[in-house]
Amino acid sequence: MTKAGPALRLDGQGRPLWLVCELTYGCPLKCPWCSNPLDLDAYQNELSTEEWKRVMRESRTLGSLQLGFTGGEPLMRRDLEDLVAEADRLGYYTNLITSTVGMSAKRLSRLKAAGLKQIQVSLQSHDAATTNALVGASVHDHKIAMIREIKAQGFPVVLNIPVVRQNIAHTGAYLEMALDLGVDYVEFANVQYYNWALVNRDELMPSLEELKASEEAINSFRQRIGKKMVIYFVIPDYFNGRPKACMNGWGSIIMTIAPDGVALPCQEARLLKGLNFPSVREHSVEWIWKESPAFRTYRGDAWMKEPCRSCSEREKDFGGCRCQAYLLTGDGANPDPACSKSPFHHLVEEAIVEAHRPQRNSRPLVMREVGVASSTQ
Ligand code: FES
Repeated sequence: MTKAGPALRLDGQGRPLWLVCELTYGCPLKCPWCSNPLDLDAYQNELSTEEWKRVMRESRTLGSLQLGFTGGEPLMRRDLEDLVAEADRLGYYTNLITSTVGMSAKRLSRLKAAGLKQIQVSLQSHDAATTNALVGASVHDHKIAMIREIKAQGFPVVLNIPVVRQNIAHTGAYLEMALDLGVDYVEFANVQYYNWALVNRDELMPSLEELKASEEAINSFRQRIGKKMVIYFVIPDYFNGRPKACMNGWGSIIMTIAPDGVALPCQEARLLKGLNFPSVREHSVEWIWKESPAFRTYRGDAWMKEPCRSCSEREKDFGGCRCQAYLLTGDGANPDPACSKSPFHHLVEEAIVEAHRPQRNSRPLVMREVGVASSTQ
């Protein structure tokens, strides 16, 4: 039993093993499930190159090993190569999470020379019309060309497909395309319903039948191709009655730095109103990780309410997702409604029913755009 209370958890040996650098909220795409805040325009003051380098140094000293450059679209930062080179010099295993918009063969070569180790590309379908409609831009062909280039330049290729109602029937064809492209790893990423995805939840959520059909297609594909490609898929928390072990526990192994320098225990945490998230512009990374109230609030299990507090699974799922608990119940300390033991589980069950009610009028997707927030909040 973990009695960590506000002290550090054991899982990451007290270290922020994963440093996630959200370099910018800027992005040319309009994905309606984007994890960035709805009020995108409220966070304009991005960290400078030197500020990012200081964050990377301090976090590495604390024991960080992996570094993910993400956004927004991290390729929009002209200093990306410089930041990758510094991360590599510091000894990080670096990962770029990108749509590939802003990438070229030349830029890829520069990133390789700077020491970038892995690239994760989001691709929404094998079908150009579906990809382009879902992201609000004509980028499918560019993405395919860049995936080929990434492979040609010797990077391991990780393909990430955000699973939504609009593309779930494409599972088999998507996998055939991935195999043809020589992809090493495909992640079927269940869209998590926060921020833009929550606004669009009724339009995006696949049904349980669709998820099971997708799982079957994946399993038969796996049997056919053996170990040529690794495929990751799980039935999402809304449907399986168990909460996800979100972030492997709050403040346990992951630290995210937002574009304006605010430090977050997860990329969504900014939505938890009432928690005062510290900035790397005002505090050291060490103080933020070890001492800041925001990182200590849901660390360990002392904060848990029943039934989590006495649940035998609390060390497996850490009570689920704090952001989801906050968004759906108004209190981040409540048991995650995705859990069948949560007194709030009916909220998830009702959302599933509402999203698939036969008489429901479908609405156009609300695309991620600056200035749209006021009409959605
Ligand atoms: Fe923030 Fe789960 S997304 S704790």
